[in-house]
Amino acid sequence: MPARLATDSLVYPRGSGYPHAAVENRLILGDNLAVMSALLAEYAGQIDLIYADPPFFTNRHFPARVGRGEDSRKPQDWQLAEGYPDTWPNIDSYLDMLYPRLELMHRLLSPTGTLYLHLDWHADAYARVLLDEIFGPGRFLNEIIWVYHGPSPIRRAFNRKHDTILVFTKGADYTFNVEAVRQPYDPNTVKTFASSNKAGFGKVPDLERGKVPEDWWYFPVVARLHRERTGYPTQKPQSLLERVILASSNPGDLVADFFCGSGTLPLVASRLGRRFIASDVTWRAVHTTHSRLVESNSSPFSQEYVVGHPWQMNAWPHQLVQDHNTITLNSAPDLPELDYWEVDPAWDGQVFRSVAQAINPRRQAQVPRSIELPENITGKRLCVRLVGIDGRLYQTEKTAS
Ligand SMILES: C[S@@+](CC[C@H](N)C(=O)[O-])C[C@H]1O[C@@H](n2cnc3c(N)ncnc32)[C@H](O)[C@@H]1O
Repeated sequence: MPARLATDSLVYPRGSGYPHAAVENRLILGDNLAVMSALLAEYAGQIDLIYADPPFFTNRHFPARVGRGEDSRKPQDWQLAEGYPDTWPNIDSYLDMLYPRLELMHRLLSPTGTLYLHLDWHADAYARVLLDEIFGPGRFLNEIIWVYHGPSPIRRAFNRKHDTILVFTKGADYTFNVEAVRQPYDPNTVKTFASSNKAGFGKVPDLERGKVPEDWWYFPVVARLHRERTGYPTQKPQSLLERVILASSNPGDLVADFFCGSGTLPLVASRLGRRFIASDVTWRAVHTTHSRLVESNSSPFSQEYVVGHPWQMNAWPHQLVQDHNTITLNSAPDLPELDYWEVDPAWDGQVFRSVAQAINPRRQAQVPRSIELPENITGKRLCVRLVGIDGRLYQTEKTAS
């Protein structure tokens, strides 16, 4: 019996599209084995691009940083919290996790679809053998090396500063938009061609059009001071996902990330006009993705969960104050610090419709305490949901006066 998915909420960032827009994007909480099995009936052969960034077999725990900023001079403003584990008894157990998930991804991919599997030296060689077997001969497209800088305590080897992204296509005919990812030539190359007609043995490339990027990419990692930083561990840069999406999908295509973490793929996909499915097994990842999508004015999305996945809704013990269309959280001294909160102005008791939201994903200040609703709410049943930085989810209801 395949797992079942249930819809918890429909999210309309800043109310856009509410209530009639088709909701074509999905954010799902649960183990992706169950998620992908549940999606097979509807999506086998339908997904145009899958980006997978699983745990790397590092045998470490990756904590999240929650609260405001990560300034070591202001330790009272932020704290370490549970992120996700990457611990395994041995390589066999890790590959046992990976194999069935890669197989499901292969089944979900469309005939012209592509998989990008993001790993590093810990397990990339083993994973490549699995992919060769699952995708079959001739389906390897690239081994992309993402290089970056950063501090490291390593003293008895070269500094390990690259990840490996294995790219496999479902078929021989696949989407690859070379024009969308061309890069300017290096200024030295341009100068060489300008100064000598013998450069390139007389073959002059189209210097204006730019070059096809190499299979090694430099993008800075998302460091502490970067604006896109969420505090979720091992967050990948938007620029890297942008290149993946532009190269291997078209506007309107369906792209997916079943290990979505902080939600970099769905965020960039929505910005580039692609539809998305994203999932993660931790609440923190789903909350982080949710607030990033809202903050970036993504197209509407549903938030779903695997039926039976443990999660808990808590009653909000504080008061809401309503004044016409403005809802305010009272300032009780023990008010927990919030990640974000949102309002359904016409609660049906089943699916929460998030129409107005207050968030602060850049984590520089407090989340606003008031939300103004766009429509007249007198007599309506309001439902308010709040997510604390501890990852707890709260709900409270009120009939508007
Ligand atoms: C390397 S992180 C992904 C980071 C992400 N690409 C980003 O930019 O933030 C790996 C993620 O996989 C999730 N994960 C691990 N096992 C999973 C599973 N079985 N199902 C769904 N998600 C899983 C973890 O919770 C973690 O968020």
